Amino acid sequence: MRTEIVKRLLDAGCSLMPDDIIITSGCVEATTLALQAVCRHGDTVAIGSPVYPTFLRAIEWMGLKVLEIPSNSEGMNLDVLDYAIRQNPVHACITIANFNNPLGSLLPNERKHQLVELLAKHEIPLIEDDVYGDLCFGSNRPAAIKSFDKYGLVLYCSSFSKTLAPGYRVGWIAPGRFLDKVLHLKTLLNIATASPTQLTVTEFLTNGGYDRHLRTLRKVYARQIAKMLDAVGRYFPHGTHVNPPDGGYILWVVMPDGFDSFKLYELALNEGISIAPGNIFTLSDRYRNCFRLNAALWSEQIEQALETLGRLAKTLIK
Ligand SMILES: Cc1ncc(COP(=O)(O)O)c(C=O)c1O
Repeated sequence: MRTEIVKRLLDAGCSLMPDDIIITSGCVEATTLALQAVCRHGDTVAIGSPVYPTFLRAIEWMGLKVLEIPSNSEGMNLDVLDYAIRQNPVHACITIANFNNPLGSLLPNERKHQLVELLAKHEIPLIEDDVYGDLCFGSNRPAAIKSFDKYGLVLYCSSFSKTLAPGYRVGWIAPGRFLDKVLHLKTLLNIATASPTQLTVTEFLTNGGYDRHLRTLRKVYARQIAKMLDAVGRYFPHGTHVNPPDGGYILWVVMPDGFDSFKLYELALNEGISIAPGNIFTLSDRYRNCFRLNAALWSEQIEQALETLGRLAKTLIK
């Protein structure tokens, strides 16, 4: 499994050895182990905002402080991060650079390089979650931040949850200079990741099935995102803004100021439609006017749900 993973990581620009990898029960276990390896109770973690809510829960559960760094369609704002690091002690940084959840954003390569150098200057470890990196719409997947790391400070985390199925619980971490610490924590936590699912996934990787599957999946998600963008354009009120992503299956919808996406969430739920309102992606009071849509599935019923959602959204525009 680890040999297959390092072969695949060459596409992300990473040159690693199988012994650099620890298999985990999914990406969330990988990122949680990474946080435990580099932080102590009370430390501060800088994180691109809006934030994947599981990170917020893990950080709070571990008694860490969150420092939310604003992000846009090109990822985390590095000027703000630089300023924040000079003002506050920051002990770790977490980022989803490739097809971010919830923004869908992609950090350009020169910014990935800058991020590594900025954090290295202050000896701050970077936890990279690259769980969506393989879901690019083009044929070449984007580089991992890890590929720019000369310092061993990037703890690279990923899994097969988004490309195969979350139920396999097969993920991994390449923890750089924190390898021994992560290995120790993983052994304490649950000794090792179950092997039957690893063997199953490894067979799929070695017999070429995974690559074939990935080629199809990329096309399917590109098509479904295009359909969802088209439906949002047709059904949603004037002033709705969405950045078309280059990969993944998530759309971040920005409504005019004053819009309450939590009200939309409640109204939609009454109609059997589920969206993720913006306020769950922050500990502050931001993103009230935003929400996340998921295009991983497409059907006539979903198109009708978007029409209903657009109609409900119009009733909430002041
Ligand atoms: C950014 C991100 N990381 C990790 C996960 C979950 O990964 P896993 O199921 O492999 O733990 C998700 C799922 O929503 C995600 O969006």
